[in-house]
Amino acid sequence: MEKVNIVLVGFGRVGRAFFDLLKEKYDYCRERYGLLLELRGIVRKKGTILLSSTQRVLSPSYFATEDLHDLAEWIPAITLSDLLEEFGSGVLVDCTPTNLITGEPGLSVMKMALEKGWHVVTASKGALVLKPEELKNLAKEKKLLIKASGATAAALPTLDIGMYSLAGTEILAIEGILNGTTNYILTRMAEGLTYKKALEEAQEKGIAEPDPSLDVEGWDTAAKMVLIANQVLGTELKLSDVKVSGIQGISHEVIDKAGKLGKILKLFGKCYRQGPDSAWKVEVGLALLDYEHPLARVDGTNKGIIFYTDSMGWVAVTGGKSDPRGAAAALLKDVISIYWHNF
Ligand code: HSE
Repeated sequence: MEKVNIVLVGFGRVGRAFFDLLKEKYDYCRERYGLLLELRGIVRKKGTILLSSTQRVLSPSYFATEDLHDLAEWIPAITLSDLLEEFGSGVLVDCTPTNLITGEPGLSVMKMALEKGWHVVTASKGALVLKPEELKNLAKEKKLLIKASGATAAALPTLDIGMYSLAGTEILAIEGILNGTTNYILTRMAEGLTYKKALEEAQEKGIAEPDPSLDVEGWDTAAKMVLIANQVLGTELKLSDVKVSGIQGISHEVIDKAGKLGKILKLFGKCYRQGPDSAWKVEVGLALLDYEHPLARVDGTNKGIIFYTDSMGWVAVTGGKSDPRGAAAALLKDVISIYWHNF
């Protein structure tokens, strides 16, 4: 058995779902992987909850009796730094909100974790998009890992496929439906709902962000595609290199027109280059897909990615619907993959 210290930062929808999932999967991870996934503390803006000290050891029975969602006693005096130092090493799970302008608070949280010898598993995109080199170099220097499935379409495997399953192939292009909110809105509008109503539904389901502008304006898709390309293709693309348009305010007329042409309308991310010596480009915008396209039938909150390769043909993965539980599961997968060496 290996004991794994976990510190969770951020306790919004995804952070809470991760807390719940860890509780649910504690026994399974012990039995299946020989990992004791011990949540030591939760840190958020209003304070910290210390879940395990020498006196208070976290266990499934603890989980069964406590509901932290409503616990009022967040202790401002205990800082993230205290917590990381007290437990020495482990994995920090970053569920802070994405900020594509400053990268904060994720950037500071991730840097602190790496500096103090903790691996990082993150659902937050800002820091990785804005400061990839700084974070990568720090992790390398400290011999630690940064895992970002949660930031790259979460329950839909993207990096794992590109890095492991397609190793040795030359990837010629990548396309994806990487945002659940926009895919849900387009699906529901094709069924007759207005844009406003479809967006409200996506928010009620916890798929869209409380401020859905990153989703509907295409920036969430752009950030995910940049992260995937930079890791899988080794590019150094920035968000400012991406041509982005979204679906905000899209009318029924546009959707009906697609139907009349016998096509399916999707918010699509594309990463491609004209030839082996040309620069990689990323674009995000509405695309008219033929019914035969492998991603054409990816509906609702589901997502999909397709890699075109030189030696494995095209490889597509679909599903991995967007919701907090799916995002939490992607985080858990990354934690397991750091410590379980039988992949
Ligand atoms: N809100 C996003 C989605 C998930 O709709 O898929 C966060 O990246």
